[in-house]
Amino acid sequence: MNTGILRVIGVGPGDPELMTLKAARLCKAADIVAYFAKRGERGHARGIAASHIRADCEEIRLDYPLTTEVPASDPRYRREIAAFYEAAASRLAGPLAAGSDVALLCEGDPIFYGSGLHLLERLDADFATEIIPGVSGMSGCWARARLPLLRGGEALAVLPATLDAATLAVKLAAADGAVILKLGRNLGKVRAVLEACGRLDDAVYVERGTMADECVMPLAARDPAMPAPYFSLLIIAARAGGR
Ligand SMILES: C[S@@+](CC[C@H](N)C(=O)[O-])C[C@H]1O[C@@H](n2cnc3c(N)ncnc32)[C@H](O)[C@@H]1O
Repeated sequence: MNTGILRVIGVGPGDPELMTLKAARLCKAADIVAYFAKRGERGHARGIAASHIRADCEEIRLDYPLTTEVPASDPRYRREIAAFYEAAASRLAGPLAAGSDVALLCEGDPIFYGSGLHLLERLDADFATEIIPGVSGMSGCWARARLPLLRGGEALAVLPATLDAATLAVKLAAADGAVILKLGRNLGKVRAVLEACGRLDDAVYVERGTMADECVMPLAARDPAMPAPYFSLLIIAARAGGR
């Protein structure tokens, strides 16, 4: 029997109108959709694609064992999340081996720091796979921040806030513009680094960009004591005429 195709579909940054035509068409056609979700919450990618999912579609919900409760550097986090991806890959391997296609919905672009990447790595050798790109979260956010991000030969650094302060400072100094993702508990550290390298006033904070309840504001104007949620990032536009 022929095996099914795993389609890893990016559904964009939050606004359902920022899904691509291809992503919407493949969601509508899918007999099985899978998506990641935080325990007790509605799956974010599932929510974005909701109007394109048929009522008779089989759904496979993949609940993360933990998300931001434990730092990503903690061995417990690494252990539990690796076991989760193994189990999730096995769940999708069942229908794929039986000949059914599976549409795996992923927020933003699926292989840009996305969980879809981990399932692709585990299933790519045994099954046909297809990657459908999506508008990334950072792209949605810089449009909402209305920043002239980069010009001509300027370079952009895309940095996870989980890097240590010294590494962040070096990488920021080497770039003209930057995007800093995965803020969460790291926002205080990042703010201190930006202040130390004179870029605090260039940083725009975007929370839940392109979603109905988004917030866009200068980082310097934000209360440093306020925690940052999972869906938040910083955009540091290149300075016109150099750093
Ligand atoms: C694990 S990465 C996944 C990125 C995703 N695959 C993409 O293409 O945007 C998650 C991080 O992306 C950023 N992010 C994604 N979408 C966002 C949005 N709509 N608003 C603000 N931040 C977002 C946040 O920094 C979040 O912690």
